[in-house]
Amino acid sequence: MGTPGGGSALTVALCTSACAAGNFKYAGAEYGGECFCGNTIANGGGPAPDGDTYCNMLCNGNNGEYCGGPNRLDLYEDTTIPTSTISSSSSTVPTPTSTVLPTGWTYKGCYVDGLAGRILAHQRPDTPTLTIPSCIGACVSAGYTAAGLEYGVQCFCGNDLRNGGVLAPSETECAMPCAGNAAEICGGSNRMSIYANGELVVYQPPAPQTTGLPGNWEYEGCLFDVQDNRSLMYLITLTENTAETCLSLCSEYGYGAAGMEYGNECWCGDMKTVEEAGAQMMPEADCNMPCAGDPQLICGAGGRITFYTWGGAPLNGWDFPTGAAAGEYRFLIGGVVVPLITTPGINGKVTFLEKYGTGAPNTTGAYEFDPFFDDDFENAWREMHVSSDVFCAAGLTLPDRAGRQLNIGGWANLDTYGVRLYWPDGQPGTPGVNDWHENKNTLLLQAGRWYPTAMMMTNGSILVVGGQVGANGAPVPNLEILPKPVGGYVKHCDWLERTDPYNLYPYLAVLPTGDIFVAYYNEARILDESTLDTARTLPNIPASVDDPNGGRTYPFEGTAVLMPQSPPYTQPLEIMICGGSNPGPEIGIDNCVSIQPEVEEAEWVIERMPSKRVVTCMTALPDGTYLILNGGQQGVAGFATLNQPNRNAVLYDPTKPRHFRMSVMANTTINRLYHSEAVLLDDGRVLVSGSDPQDPRFENLGEEYRVEAFLPPYLLNGSPRPSFVITDRDWAYGDAVTFTVSLPGSTANMKVSLLAAVSSTHGNSMGQRTIFPAFTCTSATSCMVTAPPNVHVAPPAWWQMFVLYNGTPSHAAWVRIGGDPAGLGDWPATGGFSLPGVGPV
Ligand SMILES: *[C@@H]1O[C@H](CO)[C@@H](O)[C@H](O)[C@H]1NC(C)=O
Ligand SMILES: *[C@@H]1O[C@H](CO)[C@@H](O)[C@H](O)[C@H]1NC(C)=O
Ligand SMILES: *[C@@H]1O[C@H](CO)[C@@H](O)[C@H](O)[C@H]1NC(C)=O
Ligand SMILES: *[C@@H]1O[C@H](CO)[C@@H](O)[C@H](O)[C@H]1NC(C)=O
Repeated sequence: MGTPGGGSALTVALCTSACAAGNFKYAGAEYGGECFCGNTIANGGGPAPDGDTYCNMLCNGNNGEYCGGPNRLDLYEDTTIPTSTISSSSSTVPTPTSTVLPTGWTYKGCYVDGLAGRILAHQRPDTPTLTIPSCIGACVSAGYTAAGLEYGVQCFCGNDLRNGGVLAPSETECAMPCAGNAAEICGGSNRMSIYANGELVVYQPPAPQTTGLPGNWEYEGCLFDVQDNRSLMYLITLTENTAETCLSLCSEYGYGAAGMEYGNECWCGDMKTVEEAGAQMMPEADCNMPCAGDPQLICGAGGRITFYTWGGAPLNGWDFPTGAAAGEYRFLIGGVVVPLITTPGINGKVTFLEKYGTGAPNTTGAYEFDPFFDDDFENAWREMHVSSDVFCAAGLTLPDRAGRQLNIGGWANLDTYGVRLYWPDGQPGTPGVNDWHENKNTLLLQAGRWYPTAMMMTNGSILVVGGQVGANGAPVPNLEILPKPVGGYVKHCDWLERTDPYNLYPYLAVLPTGDIFVAYYNEARILDESTLDTARTLPNIPASVDDPNGGRTYPFEGTAVLMPQSPPYTQPLEIMICGGSNPGPEIGIDNCVSIQPEVEEAEWVIERMPSKRVVTCMTALPDGTYLILNGGQQGVAGFATLNQPNRNAVLYDPTKPRHFRMSVMANTTINRLYHSEAVLLDDGRVLVSGSDPQDPRFENLGEEYRVEAFLPPYLLNGSPRPSFVITDRDWAYGDAVTFTVSLPGSTANMKVSLLAAVSSTHGNSMGQRTIFPAFTCTSATSCMVTAPPNVHVAPPAWWQMFVLYNGTPSHAAWVRIGGDPAGLGDWPATGGFSLPGVGPV
């Protein structure tokens, strides 16, 4: 203890003689001008650690000698005064532990506060009645395990000490009496008397994580960010935010620039937006907030990002071909309707079906387009007729000998039960005469459905899944079999009920190992193909990096396709879904996700797309690539709900390395929004139609009748087209079928592909499947193709067969594989339909 001595100019002699005069054993000079006297070294004082340089202040009365320093005494002892004779006066000093503490709480010492921020995070209001028990009590009732008292009147709570809290060199530095009880000590200036329940955890000052980072991430520094001009694109708020969790998430979704801001914010993006925002690196010290997930790590600050970039090999890459390699959009023909459904027929023509009410008054709503007349508007369109509103129905091509087109479901009342059939006739250049048939008195679905999906089962029946009663109506959470089995068959699906209304037009596919894949909203599962019960649930489908609640089926509407299959057909089938959207901000999803559902522990792989897309269309091309096109970048499927048209076509080539498979192709000038489609013509072009957005922001509500053709690079690269002749167009599984080819060169550069018949609505080509079958050639012209081995590899269907030379396709010939096992050719024997019968093609 002591009394400050001196006052004006201190010297060592002045201090020691003052203390000697008072008969004190010790004298200490501090801070250049303070003198302390005492008989004991109190409150844990002792020699400063080796290397301590704080006793460095010259005496203000003699600049030739030192008088201690901040919190340091230069100590002098009068050795003539024996220690034993000293009457202890230290009992009058208030001690921090003189108070009874709650059970488990102990005094932890006098800590330095404020070196790099508060050491306890939660400050209570200052109070003139502060005592040790009052502060601890306040912290206990707020649920904390540590309490700190400072400056006599301040109380802080927390669970650990942060920002580099260290014990003060001397206990005496906590010497201020508590404002509410002078017998207790309540810290000091920048000193906290710390109490805690159990162990006290002390974290060192946080620092940005610069090593041991996930993947190829590299630390860059502290980056500027501002609300109106964000440096990065996607914000994810993470309670466990750290470099590890944030950066891993960003790179999983394909973003190569990322960082953390404000402790709990994780930001993902690209260097492009950092550059566009003109964001600069700031002083490292600006980033000073501990991570929400780890108080020892820095996660930015307000307006500052602890910033990282992906180094080494890039996460993903897109090609930007030019000229012919980018493909080309060409005007094809003026349209007569905006088709809700387009179905390329085995007659080489395409049927268009329109919803009621949005088309021109002088149309029937049903037409057949003959590509032979693609420069002759009068002859290109053959008028047909439907007797109900097909908005929003499902379509398929049946494996019967006529390749009849089936259309089911629709809009309101009996139309939602509708079953319509068309027997395609004629051939390119030769008009047909057949029309759509429907008989609502004799043939209906078992449940009315708006937005169902249809799929050919391996046994030749048709599986019809899901839908709603009507727009925003009750779900129809079940599936049924068509033709209706004796006694009927409708099966309830809890998974459809649970995910309504985000599961419309679910994706269905027969898997090569048997059983049926289904994806809906953000979920997927495998159904047993006999019982149609769930055989296995698959992991949820990832959506956008910042929103796991995004989805892939209507109304979030992406598109699903099956990747090509080829001999020996043992490679697990891969299914890819591109695009989609999410609730709330409805930002188009900028990725494709793929899964091999038959693989144990199957996982989704995320591949970034070059742009955001919702209301996506995808067309399987004869060379095994996929054209991704149409839709918008913001919004959801629906009338006037889609914004920022995406006019760019993207080509996906699954033979390229993962994450490097997409090429940015040509751009259209036409908005293709809600109710746009894209289907493959027999000549290898893609027919692009729609849309029907009914959007008051557009002239004529955006009704778009113009039909375009997209010419993939294989039609523009100058490579001559091969041709072939095949007479056997009705294959059994495993059949060897001969055909003759006419090639520009050697058969070594030849391929054969089979593309299953599709009916496309809302960008989804029901029935789509691509196979590269085995073939051999015995001469330059004579070849033999081996039909796929079984119903699970290739469910019964009609297929466009192409011969490709150096990737350029021939015109297609339609072949049937697997026959008509359920005898659909004789269905429905109810009157009002023409039946092709069962038999060979
Ligand atoms: C963002 O900052 C950049 C660079 O200063 C500037 O060119 C751009 O106009 C800003 N954008 C907005 C939306 O303020
Ligand atoms: C309907 O009338 C419009 C305007 O005369 C015409 O452009 C369009 O071709 C007609 N559609 C059909 C299917 O005749
Ligand atoms: C096909 O399988 C389904 C489901 O087991 C069944 O309901 C249907 O009757 C089968 N079809 C034929 C033609 O056997
Ligand atoms: C199409 O537009 C995109 C930008 O949206 C551009 O990057 C691309 O180069 C364009 N394609 C062609 C072939 O010009």
